[in-house]
Amino acid sequence: MAKIIYCINGPNLNLLGKREPEIYGTGSLADIEKLCQNECAKNNVSLDFSQTNIEGELVDKIQEAGENGSALIINAAAYTHTSVAIYDALKMLSIPIIEVHLSQPAARESFRQKSYIAPLSTGSISGFGAQSYILAVKAAINCMKES
Ligand code: DQA
Repeated sequence: MAKIIYCINGPNLNLLGKREPEIYGTGSLADIEKLCQNECAKNNVSLDFSQTNIEGELVDKIQEAGENGSALIINAAAYTHTSVAIYDALKMLSIPIIEVHLSQPAARESFRQKSYIAPLSTGSISGFGAQSYILAVKAAINCMKES
């Protein structure tokens, strides 16, 4: 059975393309999903790509990734900086976790400086726009080979 990479996206990422394009780019989340899908197909890995604006649904999806996934890529968007519930859910996982961001939160407002995800991640990739996701898929595949 093909291994599954989960890619979970948080609030407002459904508006990519329309939302602050000078920060997040002009491509849609569907465009990013296609890029990730291509990268996974090249490597015979399945992709479960999802987005929700609801914190509890992110927690549900993280738990599902823990049951069925071989790696997790997560852009929790604003919840990155606030969510103890997501921190607690990630803490239960034993698969590689890759934190991803389109922008570079470290170079932005002070409230974006804290990440509840980084301490539980194998690594973080941010600041490369849609390319951040491709780099994250490559990183996830490398981690899966190593484990
Ligand atoms: C983001 C960065 C977060 O600070 C912000 O709240 C987002 C998007 C990014 O991908 O750059 O919604 O996660």
